[in-house]
Formats: sequence, C-alpha cells, structure tokens
Amino acid sequence: MDNTFYITTPIYYVNARPHIGHAYTTIACDTIARRQRMMGMDTRFLTGTDEHGQKIERAAQAAGIKPQQFVDQVSAEFRKLWDRMGLTYDDFIRTTSDRHKQGVQALWRKIRDNGYIYKGQYVGQYCVFDELYVEVGPGEPCPECSRPTETIKEENYFFKLSAFQEKLIKLYTEQPDWIRPETRKNEVLSFVRSGLRDLSVSRSTFAWGIPVPDDRGHVIYVWLDALANYITALGYGQADATLFEKYWPADVQMIGKEIVRFHCVYWPAFLMAAGLPLPKGIVAHGWLLFEENKMSKSRGNIVRAETIIDVLGADALRYFLLREVVFGQDGSFSFDALVQRYNADLANGLGNLASRVLTMITRYFRGEVPYPSQKVARKPIDDVIAEAAKKVIGEFNGLFEQYQFSRALETAWSLVANVDKYIVENEPWALGEREDEESRARLATVLYTSAEALRIVTALAHPVIPEATARIWKQLGLGEIGKYPLQDLRWGQLQLGTRLGEVQPVFPRADKSAIERMQKMEDQGRVATEAQPSVAAPIPVVATQAAVAGDGKIGIDDFSKVELRVGQVKAAEKVKGADKLLRLEVDMGNEVRQVVAGIAEAYAPETLVGRKVVIVANLAPRKLRGLESNGMILAASPEGGKPMLVSVPDDVPPGTKVR
Ligand code: ME8
Ligand code: MG
Repeated sequence: MDNTFYITTPIYYVNARPHIGHAYTTIACDTIARRQRMMGMDTRFLTGTDEHGQKIERAAQAAGIKPQQFVDQVSAEFRKLWDRMGLTYDDFIRTTSDRHKQGVQALWRKIRDNGYIYKGQYVGQYCVFDELYVEVGPGEPCPECSRPTETIKEENYFFKLSAFQEKLIKLYTEQPDWIRPETRKNEVLSFVRSGLRDLSVSRSTFAWGIPVPDDRGHVIYVWLDALANYITALGYGQADATLFEKYWPADVQMIGKEIVRFHCVYWPAFLMAAGLPLPKGIVAHGWLLFEENKMSKSRGNIVRAETIIDVLGADALRYFLLREVVFGQDGSFSFDALVQRYNADLANGLGNLASRVLTMITRYFRGEVPYPSQKVARKPIDDVIAEAAKKVIGEFNGLFEQYQFSRALETAWSLVANVDKYIVENEPWALGEREDEESRARLATVLYTSAEALRIVTALAHPVIPEATARIWKQLGLGEIGKYPLQDLRWGQLQLGTRLGEVQPVFPRADKSAIERMQKMEDQGRVATEAQPSVAAPIPVVATQAAVAGDGKIGIDDFSKVELRVGQVKAAEKVKGADKLLRLEVDMGNEVRQVVAGIAEAYAPETLVGRKVVIVANLAPRKLRGLESNGMILAASPEGGKPMLVSVPDDVPPGTKVR
C-alpha cells in the first residue's frame, strides 16, 4: 500500500518579502500535511523560493547588490518567517542551490534527448513581471497583467509544447479531478483546445539563470527551472534519488489561480516529455484581497504575517484564513474581520468552552474526568450531543478531503455552539452545589459529555490551530496531540479518571486596541517596504530599531514618522502684509485644513484652486502672521529660485498617503 503523501507549495519569488498571500498557501499546505501525519501517512511537505530570471536580476540591480547576495537575503527572510510561524515543511528548496541546478540540467537533457527541444528564432513579446511569453504585437501590453511587454528577438531553444495538446486534453478529461476546482479546469481546457504553440525555453540576453547544458550562451527559461523544483528537491537527476523514488508523484500541488497555466499545461507537458509520472492533482485557490484588490507587492497593499502573529498569534491567522475564505474563491482580509472571528470563534468559542469545562472538572471532581452515568442521571440531550459529535467527525473529514476548510471548520464549531448551549441548559454549576447522589451523577454526565465533545473538536482542529489545540490536549491530560491517530477518532474514548493538566486560558480576548496596533505596525512596515522596494528584505522593520545610523543617515523609522498626504486646494488667497505667503484651504480627504505657504511669488492664488499637492500632514501647527498653519506643502526649492510645487497625478484622491 502506498502510505506516502507528498504536498508542495509554489516556490515564491524573492523580489518581494513575504506577505499573508504567500502565508495563505503555505498554511493551507501545512494544515493538510499535519493532518496526513496524524492519519499515519509518511508525509513530505515542500516549499521554497524561486530565485532566477530577469525580474529577480533587475530587482537586485535596483538594490545595487549582486543577485546572489540579494536572493540569499530575501530567501532567508521567507524561511525565517515560516519557522516563526511553526510551519512544518520537510524541505525548503532554493533554485540557486547546486542540487537544484544539477536536477534541472538533468531534466533538460532528458527532454532534449527525447527529441522535444530544438533551436529556433524567437521574435515576440515578453512580460518580465509574469516571466511569460505573450502573443501580442510590439508595444502592446501583457494580456495577463496589463504591464508593458518587451520585444525579444533571440535565437532560443524551443520546447515542442504543440506535441502535447491531445495528451493534455486527454489528461483533463480522463481525470476530471486533476485540476481543482472545476472552474479552473474549464479555463485550462479551453486554453489548450484553442491550440498550443511551441514554447521558448531559453534566454540568451541575460545571465541570471541555470545554463543550458552544452551551450553556455543560454540560460534555461525561469519557469522550466522553477517548476522542476518539485522533483529536484527529491533528488531527481542527482546522485541520490531515493526520495524521488519514494515520494513522486506528488499527491497535491497547491497554487494560486494566477499560475494555473504554468502548472496545468507546461508542467505536465515537461514531465510527459521527460517520461516522468504526473502529479496526482493540482489545486488552485483564489486570491486574498486587501482593500478590494489582490494583495500584492506591486500594488503595495500587503499585510505582513508578522504583525498578526505578534498581536494575536499564528493560530489566529491560520484559523481566520481557512475559516473566512471559501477555498478556491477570492476572499477579503481585514483587521476588523480578523479580530471579530478571533473573538467569536476562538476566544469566546473554543477557548471559553475549554476553560469552562476544564475548570469545572477541576473544581467538582478534583481534576479527574468523571464517568457518565448509564441510567438514572441520563437524559436524551446527552445522546443528542454524542450523536452530533459523531456526525461532525464524518462531515469534517469529508469536507476537509474536498479542501472545503471553511465548511469543515463551520461544522466543528457548530458542535462548540451546541455544547455551550447544553452547558447553559444543564447548569452544571447549580448541580455542583448539591450533594445528593443524583445531582452528582448528573454533573458527571454533563461534564463528561462536554469534555468528550471538546476533545473531539480539539483533535479535528489540531491541523488548523496546532498551538492552542496542543495546549488544550495537555490540559485534558492527553499528552502529545501530534501523536494522536486521527483516523481512530470516535465518541467515548475519553477515559474515566484521566488526570487533567493545569488549566490555563488559550485564547485571551482581543480588545479594540488590537486592531489599531496591527494597523499601526503595518503602516510602519509598509513605509519600509515601499520606500526601499528592493533592499527591503534585509532591513528589519520593527519600530524599536536604532533610528540613526552612524553616518548621519536616518533610519526608516525616522522617515516613517513623517506623514505625507495628498491634498486638494479648495481656496487660496494672499496673506495681507506678507509678500510671500498664501493662505490655503486644503481638502485632506477627511477634513479641510488651513495651510500657510511661502509660495505667493511663484503662484497666483487662482491658479492653485483644484490643484493636488503633497502635504506634510503631521507637522505640529504653527502661527504665521497670526494665522495657524496646519501642515507644510512640499515644493522643489532651488537656491535663489522660485519654489515649484511637487505634482501629483490628477486621479489620486485627497488623503492618499505618499511614501
Ligand atoms: O508565482 N492571495 O511566485 P510568487 C493568495 N515563483 N495567494 C497569494 C497571493 C494572494 N494575494 N499572493 C501570493 C510565483 N500568493 C512563482 C511560482 S512555482 C514553480 C513558481 C501565493 O512569489 C499563491 O500561492 O508570485 C501564488 O500562486 C503564489 O503565492 C505566487 O507567488
Ligand atoms: Mg505517494
């Protein structure tokens, strides 16, 4: 029997530091991997970083450092974060490692020797952002991301993708689950049916990549290089391929929906060309949105995982992402929703149930699990809870296997709600005040039933919220939860007389200030990421950093204290008795401010009305000629010349931050 399970995340580009979009995929895979391990599967979970290609080369150039040094720094950042979050990857592959390079070159040779690579002339457009050859005319934007494309005219190696059209269609139709969800499969099918052209798989006009074997003038196309990670990490093409023999093909390859084409068309075609088995399935999830748009480095609307971990813990982020987002669809992130979910489901939900039940067992039964009565003190409601729990186990498992994390958790938490109600209705605290035998027996039944339901939710939820559930499990007196064989989970396994551990709260309630704190940390972090796009990674963004470097330069923390915002001039007039000063009323988005500015010699007041300007918004107010000025306008001010206002494109709304 095959008891191995291999799961992979995409390998992330190192041109940007990690955000919760990357964390989302990695958390989903970590959850699945943890569950498989609990089920007794020999599990391997791979993640890593994608470090070659023109995009990375340019990011390094912009940062003014060597590509290798650049990718070392950012890759370390990803790995450090995954470790802090307690993600249980078994291997972290880097595409600049020797083992990977060796494996990629072996794969190339195999495909070439099988007759699927030939030399030709590529003339066409390339999108560096997507690292994608696109079929548009010169000067036309990328159909995927609308960014400008670049014209390439190179002698390149081509991969005979066209030879795989029929085989791919057969794959998708014979294994309808190979691409999930179905909407994604349909997109791929129609793309492939519309015809596949051969794919250029080498580049010769830049050097940051893996050399084509036997032709040093070319580097291998970054997507061929990157996709191969899933097998090079197992030792494919290297001296020891034991892991490859053992774990390939992968059981699940998880990706975001924007890279479906690479994983569902190019990747299986490369594998077919090399005569290698295909992964058992590709699962594409939707996008995490923030402020209405896909969270992405290039848009700047990112939220860092660190912020959430610092304030609410890693479990909170994991639970939120899997509970709130319908897997496969896009889902919005907001701090409000995060804190609301955290309080409702974790602090007041599972956390409160655990401390309630465990505290009462400690108080009324000296910390030993009591045994439910079989007759006198038994009521139908006890069986209702037992039956509900049994049903939840079955449903949870089924939904989880279908990657319906949100519904699986919803089901498990319905049991939490049922038990809460059961406790309220049966008033164990009142029973605990009575000494008669029947009350004692009834109390034992109610607390046993509640504790057993708690144990079941805790076991099921462990892969999703590993830290808290491990603690509840210990408090239940059950030892290491990771060792619990989840496939055996059944009602009634909690043993009479089990000694509870020390009872402690697991999810402290979050108050309003949690939202503010997180938002503030993000504002500070964002200034750092934005202001220094390409060297951002090595610079820690914690506010406690030493602010001033030795050479008189300021740290990012100092810069981030300055709040720059776009304003729109609503009214302007000369200040009496002052040749240089204008009094302006500036719309800041949420308020109109009076600003007094020394620009009267350069600008007639009427020319300013309607104009967008940049204001230092958090400058302490000061008085000029008796008028209070709330902020300062930015202007280029040459020595001895007239000030020139810094301009802002017309479509930027007032109040927008400048950083
Ligand atoms: O595409 N919502 O790397 P990448 C959900 N190197 N998931 C998101 C997300 C968001 N807003 N942002 C990122 C690459 N992700 C290639 C992959 S694989 C051989 C090479 C996650 O850094 C999601 O999994 O752009 C997405 O597919 C991946 O990060 C893209 O990461
Ligand atoms: Mg297997």
